[in-house]
Amino acid sequence: MSALEQFIDDATLVASAPSLPVPPFCFGAKAKVFPDNAAVANYEKSDWSPSLSSTLYRVDGWGPPYFAVNSSGNISIRPHGKETMPSQEIDLLEIAKKGYGAHYQGVFPVKCNQDRFIIEDIVKFGSPFRFGLEAGSKPELLLAMHCLCKGSPEALLVCNGFKDAEYISLALIARKLAFNTVVVFEQEEELDLVIELSKKLDIRPVVGVRAKLRTRHSGHYGSTSVVADGVSEAAQIYCELVRLGANMRVVDIGGGLGIDYDGSKASDSDVSVSYTLEEYTETVVKTLRSICDKRSVTHPVISSESGRATVSHHTVLIFELKQHCIRQFKQGALSIEQLAAVDGLHLMVSKAASEPSSLPVHTYRMNLSIFTSIPNYWGTGHLFPIMPIHRLDQRPTMRGMLSDLTCDSDGKLATYIGGESSLPLHELDGNKNGHYYLGLFLGGAYEEAQGQIHNLFGAPNVVRVESEADNPGGFIMTSALLGPNSGDLLQAMRHEPKAMVEAFRRRAEELGAVGGNQDGLVTEALAGGLARFVSSWPYLMATSTWGMPPVTGNGFF
Ligand SMILES: Cc1ncc(COP(=O)(O)O)c(C=O)c1O
Repeated sequence: MSALEQFIDDATLVASAPSLPVPPFCFGAKAKVFPDNAAVANYEKSDWSPSLSSTLYRVDGWGPPYFAVNSSGNISIRPHGKETMPSQEIDLLEIAKKGYGAHYQGVFPVKCNQDRFIIEDIVKFGSPFRFGLEAGSKPELLLAMHCLCKGSPEALLVCNGFKDAEYISLALIARKLAFNTVVVFEQEEELDLVIELSKKLDIRPVVGVRAKLRTRHSGHYGSTSVVADGVSEAAQIYCELVRLGANMRVVDIGGGLGIDYDGSKASDSDVSVSYTLEEYTETVVKTLRSICDKRSVTHPVISSESGRATVSHHTVLIFELKQHCIRQFKQGALSIEQLAAVDGLHLMVSKAASEPSSLPVHTYRMNLSIFTSIPNYWGTGHLFPIMPIHRLDQRPTMRGMLSDLTCDSDGKLATYIGGESSLPLHELDGNKNGHYYLGLFLGGAYEEAQGQIHNLFGAPNVVRVESEADNPGGFIMTSALLGPNSGDLLQAMRHEPKAMVEAFRRRAEELGAVGGNQDGLVTEALAGGLARFVSSWPYLMATSTWGMPPVTGNGFF
């Protein structure tokens, strides 16, 4: 039964109560003074009844036709005054009981974005709401503990994921450091470890149990009815654990609060939801309350681990579109193999294109790697809104298919939100300053954390922007973090950039000797230039960092 049905049902029960008691006393002018009231005079002695309350509180005087005391001893509302049928009366207590008897304190699952500034902000702004963090591994727990040093002392620190003795020890020690750590059992063996280690460390643990729900809904949790279904099962499990004697306090409904990535408000889409945040919240609270009330269980504190809903909107990935591939080919910037790959893509997408459009379709190159910056598009087919961030006062005159720098067959965007296979775009040359920028929106959760280094393209440069409260439209860049350079990326794959440069230098020396280069100028310049390549950025740059002095004589350049 839904909370609304329950409400109607309760109201019906009230209506079936007998008609209101007849007041036994009449009051004259004197009766206005409380101690003169005969009922009051005896109220400590006589047996009590709803009708005496009605008299005592003078409901029979000021209440009609809208208020009365009913036989259950509660105030009853008669919405239609004298015309109110018994079945239409509403018990005021039932309305008051509709409130929730505990509070909400959520946690942010750091796996969605481990960026220090983001987590620090969540802790800082969430502190008045006892907002905490969720960790799924030992390093995540370490960073969560560190960030929560500045958080609310009541904030939960939920430890999820598979755990070994070290993970559990760290979670227990965190309790000693006054973090509100909860070790959530992922598997049975963890219970033995917790008992053993908590005895050893003499730290009383607080534990949780992960309930793997049987509720299944073909992958989509985009409607409130489905959310209610899952929460009902979780609430019943909670009540059962209470019945079995566990000292339960919190229901953590986990993640799953969806984002409308494609704006369709569709409940059956992987990238959309049909509810608002308020509707989601109402569904969770009503469902939990209704089940706990029915089972006479105290309302638990509600927690959630909403990841996407918390951070998706905070990141905008801005990238520049480069020339159509054919122009790059003509200028010698693209090989024939690369052009062939792009042409294949063009043909494929044109064939698959279902939307009739008279606009010419061109292939544009994005100065990014899909594997690094939009890994979920590649891995799971997740769609994100992508559009120009300027020139929106101009009509798009063509459609574009976007491919990335990797020239990998998967390094392309073949579907856009709405199911379209190309994106309305503007002519690149029509822009006075020569740059054409696109933005990818709602990618703040998971994309940064899951980005790969396929082709050794690393994370893009990141700037953190804050608005200036007293300057309309103003902003400050509070930090700028350069993405990894080629050397960093090589090191990540266990290469040794320093040794590489040294080897090149030796090789150049040998070859320089062969070429009769006596003064070592070539070898020095070559080695110095190669070292600069190691510290260069892997993405397309407007100018080359190659600043070697011109060298002649040995045929190297
Ligand atoms: C344990 C846990 N909590 C929270 C989340 C975040 O889910 P969402 O981004 O749907 O809110 C996930 C996502 O996979 C998860 O595994």
